[in-house]
Amino acid sequence: MNTRIMSVRGRRIWDSRGRPTVEVDVHLEGGAWGRGMAPAGASRGSNEAIDLRDGGREQAGFGVQGALRAISEVIAPALIGMDARDQDAVDMELIALDGTPNKARLGGNATIATSMAVIQSAAAAEKMPLWQYLAGDRPVRLPLPEVQIFGGGAHAGQRIDIQDFLVMPIGAESFDEALCMASDVYRAAGELMAALGRRSGVADEGGWWPEFTSNEEPLELLTRAIERAGYRHDQVAISLDIAASEFGRNGRYRLAVERREFDTAEWIDVVTRWIRRYPIVSVEDPVAEDDSAGMRAFTDAVGDSVQVIGDDFLVTSAERVSAAAVAGQCNAVLLKPNQVGTITETRRTMETARRLGWGMIVSARSGETEDTTIVHLATGWNTGQLKVGSFARSERMAKWNEGLRIEEQMGKDARFAGWSALPVRSLA
Ligand code: PGA
Ligand code: ZN
Repeated sequence: MNTRIMSVRGRRIWDSRGRPTVEVDVHLEGGAWGRGMAPAGASRGSNEAIDLRDGGREQAGFGVQGALRAISEVIAPALIGMDARDQDAVDMELIALDGTPNKARLGGNATIATSMAVIQSAAAAEKMPLWQYLAGDRPVRLPLPEVQIFGGGAHAGQRIDIQDFLVMPIGAESFDEALCMASDVYRAAGELMAALGRRSGVADEGGWWPEFTSNEEPLELLTRAIERAGYRHDQVAISLDIAASEFGRNGRYRLAVERREFDTAEWIDVVTRWIRRYPIVSVEDPVAEDDSAGMRAFTDAVGDSVQVIGDDFLVTSAERVSAAAVAGQCNAVLLKPNQVGTITETRRTMETARRLGWGMIVSARSGETEDTTIVHLATGWNTGQLKVGSFARSERMAKWNEGLRIEEQMGKDARFAGWSALPVRSLA
């Protein structure tokens, strides 16, 4: 099949927050084609790739006409004629065309949608699902899901300070069983909220709205929900995305909901106490992106038995992952393709983390679409973990459900990552 790129077409679509975003279709000369859709974050790291937004009054400044122009005027003419199977060359061309360190010229939204569409078209040309195209002959596993139960922080109008209270079904033996377990806990948590008269809808990623009076209360309730659903803590464990850059700066951490303020050492003490009291196996961005010493101290304190994920702190950058490893910061990296802007750069960061023996979590954003590419990346690259939000709202369910289809495609060869995907020797 002729895999030369024949056309690259962008269009404006709308994301799960009702904001404009970029979709790209790539058609190949042989007839195969692929599609990619750009997601968008709300609690972004300051070193992420920049989404090109139009500004001004229309669509509250979120317009993507500039990004679409970059696709039709700059990206399409350069990519037409290139081989879609050579993802590295395509992405290096995108990087060169952009010419900035953070995709500020073309827009990370334009480059990631294009990059995803190209890899999808190449898999389609091989008549393979993307996960299989990426895996080649290597054995791969379905990822361990990290499922949000309560949303908070920037995804819930700062109703509470901590951003994500999630569960990991570490005792599951298959992806299918893991989703059943997550669904049981999600439902149990909703019932507990209803019984307290505090159930009032869901946050941006589908987790229950955080109608709480402190940041610890949801931990208490989540622990009870796991028990109410009938699971032990070695079957379903808790994971936190603190997203501390949202409330921490210059070594001060201000919890608005509790009207309390801590320095870095006191804040690490608070989180460490939570880890002792509740069945927490993973913590993301425990300190702010500017708190390097804090990240080292936290990793030092708990890194043997708890996964310490860098999101805003590492922004899917291979260089940052390498530097963090040398400095003793984190033992896992969140992989958000749009945080860096191309599939190839995401893969390089993944490979760097793999060499270090780190945990690798492919992740969605809080603003999402029905695109399921990241599920294929997590499986085909065998990263072991996947985080796409809660267990409600179809932009989330589209991804969990795609994992079920992949598990079915693997048939009797299907393997599931389970808790061994965590970079810890034993569970706390
Ligand atoms: P974001 O949040 O997509 O709003 O940046 C997701 C996360 O922090 O993991
Ligand atoms: Zn995060």
